[in-house]
Amino acid sequence: MIKKCLFPAAGYGTRFLPATKSMPKEMMPVVNKPLIEYGVEEAIKAGINNMCIVMGRGKHSIMDHFDKNYELEHQISGTNKEELLVDIREVIDIANFTYIRQHEIKGLGHAVLTGQELIGDEPFAVILSDDLCVNERESVLEQMVALYKQFRCSIIAVQEVPEDEICKYGIISGEMIRDDLYCVNEMIEKPERGSAPSNLAIVGRYILTPDIFGLIECTKLGTGGEIQLTDSLLKQARYGCVLAYKFKGKRFDCGGVEGYVQATNYFFEKLYLKGEKKLKLLRKPLLKAT
Ligand code: G1P
Repeated sequence: MIKKCLFPAAGYGTRFLPATKSMPKEMMPVVNKPLIEYGVEEAIKAGINNMCIVMGRGKHSIMDHFDKNYELEHQISGTNKEELLVDIREVIDIANFTYIRQHEIKGLGHAVLTGQELIGDEPFAVILSDDLCVNERESVLEQMVALYKQFRCSIIAVQEVPEDEICKYGIISGEMIRDDLYCVNEMIEKPERGSAPSNLAIVGRYILTPDIFGLIECTKLGTGGEIQLTDSLLKQARYGCVLAYKFKGKRFDCGGVEGYVQATNYFFEKLYLKGEKKLKLLRKPLLKAT
């Protein structure tokens, strides 16, 4: 039912300079896999097989990554290195990739609006790939798609954050309708100290209904002089319903060094079989999207 996932990927990744000076932040590897590939795998596990990527200048390596590389395939064919390409081959077989260019960097709302051309008039998911989310049993997006089937409205993932980190996020408050679900009535992007309505921070997973596009179109510049998706979602919450979901799982903020190192350690431990000398990939088969 949710068939498309939008990946805003036009940002500069300034928190990771100089690494991101000429390399897209979405291509930063966690162990041996680029961040955006983790996001794409999460979308596939949620039954989505159309990936709509909003690109910026200098991001061509993302397109190359999700394409066949015949020369390389030929070179390593029949060697033990072939094993390392199994995951990405599967992703390329299952998913379709479409791209659109965002000419100006004017905020997350603007990036989502740029993707309208690829999404059309249907509900869709959004993954911010520098928020790396993991849950062994049911991926975060899978949990959200299941909720969408029940409630049919926009849903945003949230988690509690410490007081001193509140100013880094969009913060929500709302009426609790279940111990992990809120009907949003207030949202504020990167609130100043003391003005946050709660400590529930938006994490980079959304399911959006397509009326969001019209709402973004009439959203004025907000925090940081950018068009903030948070502001458009607040409008949607006020005239309809937006749910905030406290997801089950872990989230690493891979847009910054600390979270990136934590994610790397987490995945290294998960992938490394103790007692063996080499890195062995424990592959969980992706579910074929229907
Ligand atoms: C964006 C959103 C913010 C959200 C955050 C999650 O901010 O605007 O509401 O809390 O992602 O990572 P950014 O980190 O792009 O500034």
